[in-house]
Amino acid sequence: MSAGIFIIAVSLFSTSARCAINWTATPFNPPSVPLAIRSPYLSAWLPQWADTGGSLSGNWPRFWQGDTLGWAGFVNVDGESYNFLGAPSVPNTGFNTAVQHALQWTSTQSMFNMTAGPVNLTVTFLSPIEPSNLINQSVPFSYMSVQAVSNDGDGHSVQVYSDISAEWVSGTDSSLVNWTTAAQGDTVIHKVQLQQQTLFDDSGDRIQQGAAYYATGDSANMTFQTGQDVVVRGQFINHGVLLNTQDTDFRAISDDWPVFAFAHDLGTVPASGESDIVVFSVGHARDPVINYTLGLGRSQQRHPYFLCQYPTVEDAIQAFAGDYTNALTRANALDAQIHDDASAISSNYSAIVALVLRQTFGAIEFSISTGSDGQYNDSDVTVFLKEISSDGDTSTTDVIFPAWPTFLYTNPLIGKQLLLPLFEYQATGEYPNKTAAHDLGHYPQAPGYPLGNDESMPIEECGNMLIMTLSYTQRTNDTSLVTSYYGLLDQWAQYLVANTLIPGDQLSTNDIAGPLANQTNLAIKGIIGIQAMSEMAALAGNTSAAANYSGIASSYVSQWLELATASDGQHLTLAYGNDSSYGITYNMYADKLLGTNIIPQSVFDMQSTWYENNHNAYGVPLDTRHLYVMTAWEMLTAAMVNTAARNLLIDAIYAFSSSGLNHYAYSDWFDTTTGIVEGNCGGAATLCFRARPIAGAHLALLALPND
Ligand SMILES: *[C@@H]1O[C@H](CO)[C@@H](O)[C@H](O)[C@H]1NC(C)=O
Ligand SMILES: *[C@@H]1O[C@H](CO)[C@@H](O)[C@H](O)[C@H]1NC(C)=O
Ligand SMILES: *[C@@H]1O[C@H](CO)[C@@H](O)[C@H](O)[C@H]1NC(C)=O
Ligand SMILES: *[C@@H]1O[C@H](CO)[C@@H](O)[C@H](O)[C@H]1NC(C)=O
Ligand SMILES: *[C@@H]1O[C@H](CO)[C@@H](O)[C@H](O)[C@H]1NC(C)=O
Ligand SMILES: *[C@@H]1O[C@H](CO)[C@@H](O)[C@H](O)[C@H]1NC(C)=O
Ligand SMILES: *[C@@H]1O[C@H](CO)[C@@H](O)[C@H](O)[C@H]1NC(C)=O
Ligand SMILES: *[C@@H]1O[C@H](CO)[C@@H](O)[C@H](O)[C@H]1NC(C)=O
Ligand SMILES: *[C@@H]1O[C@H](CO)[C@@H](O)[C@H](O)[C@H]1NC(C)=O
Ligand SMILES: *[C@@H]1O[C@H](CO)[C@@H](O)[C@H](O)[C@H]1NC(C)=O
Ligand SMILES: *[C@@H]1O[C@H](CO)[C@@H](O)[C@H](O)[C@H]1NC(C)=O
Ligand SMILES: *[C@@H]1O[C@H](CO)[C@@H](O)[C@H](O)[C@H]1NC(C)=O
Repeated sequence: MSAGIFIIAVSLFSTSARCAINWTATPFNPPSVPLAIRSPYLSAWLPQWADTGGSLSGNWPRFWQGDTLGWAGFVNVDGESYNFLGAPSVPNTGFNTAVQHALQWTSTQSMFNMTAGPVNLTVTFLSPIEPSNLINQSVPFSYMSVQAVSNDGDGHSVQVYSDISAEWVSGTDSSLVNWTTAAQGDTVIHKVQLQQQTLFDDSGDRIQQGAAYYATGDSANMTFQTGQDVVVRGQFINHGVLLNTQDTDFRAISDDWPVFAFAHDLGTVPASGESDIVVFSVGHARDPVINYTLGLGRSQQRHPYFLCQYPTVEDAIQAFAGDYTNALTRANALDAQIHDDASAISSNYSAIVALVLRQTFGAIEFSISTGSDGQYNDSDVTVFLKEISSDGDTSTTDVIFPAWPTFLYTNPLIGKQLLLPLFEYQATGEYPNKTAAHDLGHYPQAPGYPLGNDESMPIEECGNMLIMTLSYTQRTNDTSLVTSYYGLLDQWAQYLVANTLIPGDQLSTNDIAGPLANQTNLAIKGIIGIQAMSEMAALAGNTSAAANYSGIASSYVSQWLELATASDGQHLTLAYGNDSSYGITYNMYADKLLGTNIIPQSVFDMQSTWYENNHNAYGVPLDTRHLYVMTAWEMLTAAMVNTAARNLLIDAIYAFSSSGLNHYAYSDWFDTTTGIVEGNCGGAATLCFRARPIAGAHLALLALPND
């Protein structure tokens, strides 16, 4: 990863006040509730503030880095209006606030139970995760559904309203936008976009391209309206119905705040039994999605994968909006599978796994090229990852690596499609170095590094590529990466043979901690990488190379143990020869993941005991230089230690995640003594280490081979 550009200011934003929530939260009240997260540019969260938490009514959703996203909801009950979403102020109207009683979340959904006078509302935010249908996965849309039930034994007249503002297309409120409202079959779609579009520009982490969409099913009881926020919301509050009119005075986002609204009349909600479900779909889409280098000065504009099945974004929205019931069934099945698998470890583990699925999938985008025949080429589907915060690089190798367990567990093909852009670029020969590249550029640009001036962490990235490639191959028996890129893999392995036993003054993925020579944890990643190459050489039929690499790996492991074990034999050191140092040696996880078994079990046992005896209130620090750690490294470690140490690490991440001390989108970087997130580098607009796919490492235990 790449955290080089920022300066850490001491936790200005972290107050130590805990949220004092007055609703039940299952499994717990997180730092920020995921609402609609499907891509790097569709990332809506409900932060939980100090003192009062963050009820769905009365607080605005936020983009992951803190920008407000206007997303409002009202329900009228017998002519009385209740705000259930957002914090709109509407002068000259009287409305109440729906009271939140419960929050419940799963891997794909966040459900709010609220009371609006004599009816209860269930408001469900579903961000689908579709590992078994990657075209569906590639559609950057998310659902909000609303259902009402009488809570006093009487029938009630109910209307449901929701809108989005133009803040969904930019964080700069003075930006000029335009919009349309149109029917696509049985779906009505509001589309809002920047008037000034710039391809592949993610200024302030908001893409300056494409459009935001808000859609709902058409019916005789559906009305819509676009116009100034207070006018449109006031219309609904006072009349329970919209005017089916469009404001065409295109203007800035904050110039009389245009909003894009729908209302549904549910008629009379019966005395008992639930109302019909009202479904809204929100999204952000653009085409092209990625500017990918083909090397030698050529580049390729890649398209969203879903366009090969749905000719336009509107077609995709119509299919998406019409599929809610099935999508919910699929989501419930996936949630149940993950819950069952993770609960076999512990209930705390199940909770911290469910917390990170949406942000991990929300960092990737599926792309497709146009073939030489002018058609979308479905033999050329690749996935790009945005590092999200900490620089926003494209397809960062050492960010894919910690996220890898999530993709391996859900569908290893996604892993292959993530590695392909890195392999294909380096196979062009343009990249000058003999080591694996760190990343491909700044998202969504992927120009590569013809000068080799990407962030330098060569042992880290060579080890990562070798480990991930073997891991994919083992899970699928698809040897195509090994055979197609054998030369690159072999080149990286040779670099490791020459450099990993006595690592130079290199950065590891934790660049924030600075470079250090002779890092124990970095060396073992490289050694496992060499053994991985041995197994890939064997798969490629190269038995002499396989024997050579495995001989080197086993000799290196013995030497590494000599160099890296503290002289009292109690623990591994952070760096060779520094007996008082230690660190969390999470790279040993790869030996378990691959089943390479080159590290004696006694070393895992030694580290387990050491962590049990050396940890802080919120887990084991990264190393003796700092008090901080990343959740990813705790979780890779949890997957390789004994049960007591495993539970200690899982419970530490649970404690950090559920403490109520943190706010904003989930961060994976925190202080192990206070449980407070690190990297609040300068304020809400530049929050660092938020919503990163790195948290996908929480699935490390689920990705282990079943034996
Ligand atoms: C929670 O507190 C808020 C603010 O005091 C109040 O409006 C709301 O009714 C309370 N909710 C519940 C479920 O008691
Ligand atoms: C929320 O409401 C739904 C629908 O009434 C119900 O099935 C669910 O159990 C409720 N959840 C909680 C946590 O109360
Ligand atoms: C309405 O919500 C309240 C508060 O959670 C709950 O006690 C009640 O059972 C709910 N009523 C119905 C009909 O779901
Ligand atoms: C809105 O702006 C975009 C980008 O400049 C332009 O392509 C589109 O035609 C405009 N739409 C309307 C309705 O003016
Ligand atoms: C519209 O609402 C009325 C009651 O207000 C109901 O009878 C009718 O079925 C609804 N129509 C549709 C298409 O939902
Ligand atoms: C997703 O998949 C289902 C069937 O598997 C399909 O019916 C649906 O329309 C798909 N597309 C979208 C965009 O949701
Ligand atoms: C489609 O992509 C594959 C894989 O990159 C490539 O081999 C093939 O030539 C492409 N087909 C066309 C028609 O461009
Ligand atoms: C696409 O990337 C290439 C470098 O690979 C660059 O020269 C070109 O300007 C980029 N195109 C756009 C529209 O940003
Ligand atoms: C590429 O090689 C050059 C020359 O040795 C070196 O300065 C640079 O740091 C290397 N880049 C990376 C990413 O390792
Ligand atoms: C891969 O091959 C092994 C050995 O033949 C077999 O046991 C395993 O089921 C295969 N896995 C997949 C995913 O096909
Ligand atoms: C790294 O370790 C080796 C082997 O113990 C030693 O020779 C070398 O001096 C160390 N390098 C540094 C910079 O400490
Ligand atoms: C979950 O973690 C918390 C916080 O560390 C701990 O207090 C609790 O005992 C754990 N729960 C279970 C069931 O292990």
